[in-house]
Amino acid sequence: MAYSSAELSFLLADCAAGSSLINDATTYQLTKKSLVKDLSHLRKTHGEHARALVELVQSRRAGKLPDSWLMDSESTQQATPPVVAAWRADVLKAAGVDAAVDVTCSIGTELAALSAAGLRVLGGDLDHQRLRMARFNVPEVSVVRMDALRPAFAGDLKSGALKSGVVVADPARRNSSGRIAKLEDLQPPLPDLLDRYNNLVVKCAPGIDYSEFDGHVEVVSVDGGVKETCLYSPGIVGRGRRAVVMGASSVKETVTSDEPETDRVGAVGRYIVDPDGAIVRAGLVRQYAARHGLWQLDPHIAYLTGDELPTGVRGFEVVEEVPLKKARSALVGLGAKSVEILVRGVNVDPDELRKKWKLKNSSGEAYSVVVTRIGEGGAAKGMAFICRPAFS
Ligand SMILES: C[S@@+](CC[C@H](N)C(=O)[O-])C[C@H]1O[C@@H](n2cnc3c(N)ncnc32)[C@H](O)[C@@H]1O
Repeated sequence: MAYSSAELSFLLADCAAGSSLINDATTYQLTKKSLVKDLSHLRKTHGEHARALVELVQSRRAGKLPDSWLMDSESTQQATPPVVAAWRADVLKAAGVDAAVDVTCSIGTELAALSAAGLRVLGGDLDHQRLRMARFNVPEVSVVRMDALRPAFAGDLKSGALKSGVVVADPARRNSSGRIAKLEDLQPPLPDLLDRYNNLVVKCAPGIDYSEFDGHVEVVSVDGGVKETCLYSPGIVGRGRRAVVMGASSVKETVTSDEPETDRVGAVGRYIVDPDGAIVRAGLVRQYAARHGLWQLDPHIAYLTGDELPTGVRGFEVVEEVPLKKARSALVGLGAKSVEILVRGVNVDPDELRKKWKLKNSSGEAYSVVVTRIGEGGAAKGMAFICRPAFS
């Protein structure tokens, strides 16, 4: 929950005085079970500021942002993971960008990364309390209250003072009524940002339809979860698509639309690979397949297959291939104890399927079942590939 102005003044004053009250609050468990008791203790010592201490300690414990920062739960949730912000800053630096204005800077995650990459940086946001936190978190960067669409630096953009600079934006995708579905309802609205700035880098939801965007598109995942699709105006890094597959602290692999692709489709090999979501959403499955000597099971389905796994990738070693209808008897024949089910292109619910199969052999093996459609129209077949998990 956001801080009131008085709560934030209290936290800032404590930080300035050595954080003894915040440090004291970190000694409490603050779990679901202990919260009521902990809060009542904290109220005795810190009165009306107890809630703010709890909010800060719990947000820091999420482990997403530096634990010396000021943050609340919502701004922490909305913040770009630092590893992704650092990647974006490096992309801009490598493109020769030397200045950036983050017009939705919130508590400063992108500002910190842009500044660490050596860019001249200015931050702006509509929210007073977030700006106060950004000032504390990233003291080396100036931040001002401004509307992203009526920016304080409009004159600089027109005069060319920010000629080699970009505007970075990350519109809010939630409001008090929940998740925002329409691009024109984002805060600030995406179409208005695209209309307003020529050199724009805008972070969007992973699932955005970017097909009409004329520029560079990056889809980024961290630890297998797709975090964002970022749109770069064509003047910044040209045109094309890139999938950026990150681990918790560094980039594992990137795939671009400039690379050769394969149109090879064929029977299943020794392994099945379910490409990272960033590669799938960036439409770069064939490029990834070409790079690693893989091929598709079906031209319209993203599952790949091959006789070797790409290094560092989790895949599935195929034990048996059967029509979906015969999967249960094949699993019983193998003495399966349990199954992880992956589905693409077939209208079945993995949970329903698991319930229906009722596998109960407690001394058996755990299998992965890749369920997919092969072929088109009347010739389409639902197939099940019974596999063991594999890692290269
Ligand atoms: C998703 S958050 C940005 C998170 C930030 N990129 C980070 O990594 O921490 C969106 C921010 O946009 C701000 N905002 C919404 N509408 C705005 C507008 N018209 N002008 C400036 N800021 C705005 C919100 O106050 C919020 O802090």
